[in-house]
Amino acid sequence: MYNAKAYSATSATSPLAAATIARRDPSEHDVQLEILFCGICHSDLHQVRNEWSAMMPTAYPIVPGHEIVGRVTKAGSAVANFKPGDLAAVGCLVDSDRTCPACQAGLEQFCPNLVLTFNTPDKHLGGVTYGGYSESIVVDERFVLRVPANLNLAGTAPLLCAGITTYSPMRHWRVTKGKKVGVVGLGGLGHMGVKFAHALGAHVVVFTTSPNKKDDALRLGADEAVVSRNESEMQKHAGSFDFILDAVSAEHDINAYINLLGHNGNITLVGAPPKPLAVAGFGLLFGRRSLSGSLIGGLPETQEMLDFCGAHNITADVEVIPIQKANEAYERMLRSDVKYRFSIDMASLRSE
Ligand SMILES: NC(=O)c1ccc[n+]([C@@H]2O[C@H](COP(=O)([O-])OP(=O)(O)OC[C@H]3O[C@@H](n4cnc5c(N)ncnc54)[C@H](OP(=O)(O)O)[C@@H]3O)[C@@H](O)[C@H]2O)c1
Ligand SMILES: [Zn+2]
Ligand SMILES: [Zn+2]
Repeated sequence: MYNAKAYSATSATSPLAAATIARRDPSEHDVQLEILFCGICHSDLHQVRNEWSAMMPTAYPIVPGHEIVGRVTKAGSAVANFKPGDLAAVGCLVDSDRTCPACQAGLEQFCPNLVLTFNTPDKHLGGVTYGGYSESIVVDERFVLRVPANLNLAGTAPLLCAGITTYSPMRHWRVTKGKKVGVVGLGGLGHMGVKFAHALGAHVVVFTTSPNKKDDALRLGADEAVVSRNESEMQKHAGSFDFILDAVSAEHDINAYINLLGHNGNITLVGAPPKPLAVAGFGLLFGRRSLSGSLIGGLPETQEMLDFCGAHNITADVEVIPIQKANEAYERMLRSDVKYRFSIDMASLRSE
């Protein structure tokens, strides 16, 4: 065991503050990373504030962060694919049982025994796992990803959650050229959804509640941008979409988007608002439309996504901040005041 600097919250109402945490010494299969950048995902905020208490209550203290890019400082004797000095990344998962059908299919995110990067019982040290708002982390090689050499590292960190969470459903629902695709909510996830849908060749329409994001939506790769509070703009798209990705973090009317789907169209929910959404069944019946969900992605697909980003030169648009600004960043994220992801420069923690 060794001590590492981190930022943690001790209750649902306390701010993130400097703390010291224990990390395990790397075993033969482990990789130890010096964390260079960690993205701020809205899921970090939901869990720091225990907003998902019904589904996954938060154990305090919590060290959030699951969009991690770093440099390998140690690799155990049985580690095959990483050596000290390599760039590497860790996303939302750090372990699973590796034997269940989901794991065998490379869908570790659906493993009944998955271990999330933070707030999941830690079988090595007891307590719960601690995430990426920290100077280092130790993870089994199987859950460590390779980072394409050409990508900006601060902008690569958010790919580990915002990237895979939007890439995976688009691949599953076969977003390609000739498809009309909507993205609801231009935040961290949404802006990655726009980049992927555009790179996959679709006609992309962004739905935003923030009129000042319209120009950005087009710059990010959207063909059209609609202010969702404008009824007549919404109506122009009724019944026309093949696929819509809903990446909204708060309560909203999903029926307005179901009605924009064509027949056999699908809307996939990746946003995780704490309160249940009301769904009008008739919107689904007419047109045999479907509503589904999607959760991050498994290890093979996460690597595929990173390689896709390397090949297409895709990273997140980030505002790099020191960790001391994390609490302020949470407030700004709640006001939709981030273009489009905060990425913490972990040098700010090391020098604290
Ligand atoms: N399924 C998964 O595996 C997974 C993975 C990661 C995150 N998530 C969840 O996905 C959600 C989005 O995460 P994020 O990190 O992208 O958050 P984010 O950066 O805060 O973006 C959320 C966006 O939703 C829109 N929005 C916010 N409040 C709204 C409201 N009241 N009504 C309508 N639109 C609203 C805003 O976009 P506009 O300004 O454009 O309207 C905002 O930028 C969160 O709930 C997060 O927990 C799920
Ligand atoms: Zn996330
Ligand atoms: Zn499993």
